[in-house]
Amino acid sequence: MSDNTKHIHPIFSKMIQRNEKETLLHQNAICIWMTGLSGSGKSTIAQGLEQKLHKEGFMTAILDGDNVRTGINKNLSFSEEDRLENIRRIAEVNKLFLNNGIITINSFVSPTNDIRTLAKNIIGEQDFFEVYINASFDECAKRDVKGLYQKALNGEIKNFTGLDAPFEAPENPSLEIVTTNQSIEESVACIYNFMLPKITYSTEK
Ligand code: ADX
Repeated sequence: MSDNTKHIHPIFSKMIQRNEKETLLHQNAICIWMTGLSGSGKSTIAQGLEQKLHKEGFMTAILDGDNVRTGINKNLSFSEEDRLENIRRIAEVNKLFLNNGIITINSFVSPTNDIRTLAKNIIGEQDFFEVYINASFDECAKRDVKGLYQKALNGEIKNFTGLDAPFEAPENPSLEIVTTNQSIEESVACIYNFMLPKITYSTEK
């Protein structure tokens, strides 16, 4: 092979593999999937967790219902069908991140077992860690950080999770965080401690 053809041979243009990216980043990529009612604390905990992981030298990406639905998924409603499509796309995006060695932190209501199973099947069971952020409907309605519960209770928002659309609590999450009597710092520490052994670099998976 001449020196010229060497550069265009497929072997030289092949994509760098996930394990090589993980070696570079010195971490194992996983998907942290937070599910729970709107206002349960998912986004706040995701942000706190990302800050902590970043400080400790981990490369992360946050995917969140509120930002994803203003961009890639802005054409989707809150019907059951559109929620499935919302999560299907997000799960595919997760896969792209994981293949680049990046730890993903997701906060999506992802209200049903079917929806979360779809995500898990796309992402792969071995990489998928479901975290149930548990706060009751009444507690979330009391907090009402975005004013959505008031609107939903007034009938101004239809298909609102926990009111006129279902929320099925996960049956067997990797971790459950009850945010009612726990500070944000405590919740973040709890997830961080649980995930640390899973993201700590090792060549054995
Ligand atoms: S999911 O059900 O498809 O997973 P997602 O997490 O993307 O939902 O978006 C939920 C966010 O959208 C909530 O935190 C809330 O701010 C907003 N929202 C607006 N309408 C609704 C609704 N009908 N049900 C739930 N959340 C809603």
